[in-house]
Order: sequence, then C-alpha cells, then structure tokens
Amino acid sequence: MAEDRLSGNRIIEEAIAALHEQGGVQALDAVAEAFRKRISDNAELVIPVMQPETAVKSMRPGKGAGTNGLSDLRLLQMQSDDGKRWNVAFTSLEEASKGEKTTTVTIPMENVLRGAKDFKQEAGIAINPFGKAFLFSKELIEKTLAGERTAPLENKILFDIGDITKMDIECIVNAANSSLLGGGGVDGAIHRAAGKELLEECRELHGCKTGQAKITKGYNLKAKHIIHTVGPVYHGKESDAQLLAACYQNSLELARQNNIHSIAFPAISTGIYGYPKEEAATIALAVAAGWIATHKDYGMVIVFSCFDRETYDIYQKVLKENA
Ligand code: APR
Repeated sequence: MAEDRLSGNRIIEEAIAALHEQGGVQALDAVAEAFRKRISDNAELVIPVMQPETAVKSMRPGKGAGTNGLSDLRLLQMQSDDGKRWNVAFTSLEEASKGEKTTTVTIPMENVLRGAKDFKQEAGIAINPFGKAFLFSKELIEKTLAGERTAPLENKILFDIGDITKMDIECIVNAANSSLLGGGGVDGAIHRAAGKELLEECRELHGCKTGQAKITKGYNLKAKHIIHTVGPVYHGKESDAQLLAACYQNSLELARQNNIHSIAFPAISTGIYGYPKEEAATIALAVAAGWIATHKDYGMVIVFSCFDRETYDIYQKVLKENA
C-alpha cells in the first residue's frame, strides 16, 4: 500500500536526525543501513517534478532522469553551498510539503537510487532538503547499494584515557569472569551501564572459559556490541601469558566474524586478577599489532581504554621500547 511504502521511511529520517546530532562513521553507516532496509521493504521516495511547460520557471530545470521513468518530466534540483547540484527526493509527503509547492510522484526507492549512477552533472540526491537534509552523494549511494561500509577501512591502534562504558565505538570488550554474570571492576561498570537486559542475555551464554570470548548486544551503551572475555588470574605461570594473549586474539577474531571494525579493550586481568600491567601491555600490543598485520585488508581500529593515566603511560612506555 502506498502509505506503507512511505510510512516506514521514518527509520531513514531517524537515522538522518541522529547523524545531524552525533555525526561520525557509525551514524553515517546507520543511514546507509536504513536505506538498505527500506529498499528491501520495496519502499518509495517522493520525487518533486514539474511538467515540461512549467519547468522553464523552475530554479534550475534538471534534465529528465531517464532511467527511473521520468524521461519527460523535469526534476526539481537544488544547489549546495559548494556549487554542487543535487536532484531532490523526500522520504514522505510531509517532508515534501515543507518546500515550495510542486507536483510530486512516488517512485520505488531502489530505482531512484540506482538512477544516480547515470547522473552527469548532479553530485547525488538531496534527501529532505527543507527539513533535516541529507546530501546522498553518488559515491555513497553506490556503496549503500553494494552493501559496503560508508567509511574507508582503516587499521589503527589508539589509546583512550577514560571510562570504556562511555565510548562511542562499535564494540567494547569486557574483562569478565567465567560465569559471565557480572562482577566488580570494568565488568561491574559495563553491566551497570548496559542495563539488566545484558545480564539476561549473558545467562543464555552459560559462561565462558578463560582465554575464550563471547559476544552480546550493547543495550544502553553507545557501543552496539560487547565482547566478553575471561582473562587469567595471574600466577606467574607461562600459561598466564598464553591465556591473556588468547583473550585479545579471540576477541578480535569474534569481532571480525561479526563485521565489527572498531573495538576497545580494557587492560584485561590487570585489576582484580593481578596481572602485572607492563607484562600485560606487552602481550596486548603484540597481539593487536600481529592481528592487524595478518588482516591488513579487513580494517580494524583497536583502542586500548586506560582507566587511569598510569595504565596509559605503561602502554606508551611499552610502545617506545618495542618501536
Ligand atoms: N573503563 C575502563 N577500564 C576500566 C574501567 C572502566 N570503567 N573499570 C576498570 N577498568 C580497568 C581497571 O583499571 C584495570 O586496568 O580495567 C582493567 C581490568 O581490571 P578489572 O576490571 O579488575 O578486571 P580483571 O583484572 O580482568 O579481573 C576480572 O574482576 O570485575 C571482576 O567479574 C570480574 O571476576 C572478574 C575480575
């Protein structure tokens, strides 16, 4: 039904609003994801058109868009501050009504977006230009239709001093215990910040072995995912180092399997589990650098979350010594 073909576009409007508020790669990915979802729903877009006889009066009469069946109609066009020209589309009749009165037609969203590849002068499609606008460039449309991520893939190792539960990143890692039912330290902080639904999901996981990793949603966190890993309690045995390395390795592997491209680690086992911070930092950095070196074309941003300056300084010291 036509209304359904448009009403569900609210998820696009919400994603665009979030992009306006937060900015950032994740918010842009979410807009692309919303368009992909609506294409799979056979959604439509509202296209402002002018009959040829009135096109002369339009600000910049566009050429017919050809491929999406509007060959004899003129598309209303807009010009952005940088001089680029954009065809226009609205996610709803209400958005269309915010601008000057024009005739509109509804066209299958996929046709409209696929038509962008034939644009000669236009930079893309201005979505809802009279409301929370989104300039959907031809390049981004192409990536969206191809199911690709919107941001260029990058490999980086970064450090952050602060509370991991506040990080705006795809995934944070929890230094959990084998029950996965919460605890003190960062485990307690993550459960408090994520909310009780996290514990409910963790109950379904039936624990986790030391060195292994399991994934859940992020719930009330900004992070979409939490990877729970269980570090070794430090006894000074050789196996401690292997188990700690396995925590980082298995967490990165699980992130890759879930198409995650940015992940933050706390200093696993260096709190309640007593692992000497410098030895732990050496292991963590070696695994991270080794993983990136063997997965160059995947693109992973690894952030080491340091709850205090001392931890940060230890990472920097280890980095310098191994540079
Ligand atoms: N953000 C970032 N890092 C944090 C935070 C936080 N909010 N809270 C604590 N940390 C840091 C600690 O300062 C330490 O450097 O996380 C690191 C790991 O410390 P713990 O949380 O004590 O974890 P761990 O040493 O691995 O011991 C795990 O503690 O909380 C229990 O249930 C957990 O039994 C498990 C054990």
